[in-house]
Amino acid sequence: MKTVIAADHGGYELKKQIIEHFSSLNLLDLGTYSPDSTDYPDYAKKVVKAILTGEADFGILICGTGIGISIAANRFSGIRAALLYSDEVARLAKQHNNANVLVFGGRTMKADDVIRRIEIFLAEKYEGGRHQKRLDKIEQTE
Ligand code: RB5
Repeated sequence: MKTVIAADHGGYELKKQIIEHFSSLNLLDLGTYSPDSTDYPDYAKKVVKAILTGEADFGILICGTGIGISIAANRFSGIRAALLYSDEVARLAKQHNNANVLVFGGRTMKADDVIRRIEIFLAEKYEGGRHQKRLDKIEQTE
């Protein structure tokens, strides 16, 4: 599984910690590469583009709260970006939503919680069935 990761300045430190912890996943880092101020939509687009072109299967995005970058990513058809604010949500984001982008808040979440939620998500399976019907309806939304 090829995974990409990106953050704005609000997620820069947390991104470094995630990359270090998951070194075995060979995360492709799409920026930002310094703590200088940036615009989160630019980083959402980089990750979305990698997924929609098939360059990556899966993405991680971080901004200060995780909210702005979630909004930006979810504007794109085929993207299911989930803000993992609890362990239970990490489970359900895979089981029910088959999320293809995980989102975190660099200023609102602790690194150990984030790392545990990524592990929980990766260990789960998408349930399909009634959930697939709902995901299909999202793609039909105009
Ligand atoms: C940047 O200051 C901040 O607004 C951004 O990281 C994010 O929290 C937006 O939702």
